[in-house]
Amino acid sequence: MLKLGLTIGLLLVGTSTTFAQGDVVAGEALFGQRCQVCHLIGEGATNKVGPQLNGVVGATVARLPDYSYSPALIKANAGDRIWTVTDLRRYMFLPKKLFPGTKMTFWGQRDPVQLSDLVAYLQSFAADGTRIEPAP
Ligand code: HEC
Repeated sequence: MLKLGLTIGLLLVGTSTTFAQGDVVAGEALFGQRCQVCHLIGEGATNKVGPQLNGVVGATVARLPDYSYSPALIKANAGDRIWTVTDLRRYMFLPKKLFPGTKMTFWGQRDPVQLSDLVAYLQSFAADGTRIEPAP
């Protein structure tokens, strides 16, 4: 609870362009509840209903040759669109708003602190599935 209070405090003092550093442990729990039904992440992660998510933050949209993406994401890939933190937040908030026609049918993650936590968790995995130590 103290941790949550601190995170909210950080969010409030932050400017509109910066986000509080998310909590990787909280993000892991959220991933288990909201994402894992369709996505795997970590060493040996394979594609399920959705693509595996190793190293997705900062990577090109639709980066995997062995996953069958929707035309909406393939188009973004053709335009060299990158998964920025901002776009990931927008996608998790409401997938079809960022990429109309995406086949990710997810009801959306609205809480800004939880979005930060999920991004921090995604950021903690390198493209090969190994863990990255968070920046100090
Ligand atoms: C009901 C299944 C489902 C759930 C739940 C779901 N996703 Fe997805 N996700 C998909 C599918 C399917 C795609 C492929 C979208 C496409 O091709 O349009 C996708 C695509 C993605 C991508 C793009 C990956 C890439 O290679 O470009 C990211 C990032 C992502 N999901 C993150 C998440 C996160 C984080 C959560 C939890 C907050 C989540 N998803 C919940 C099914 C799901």
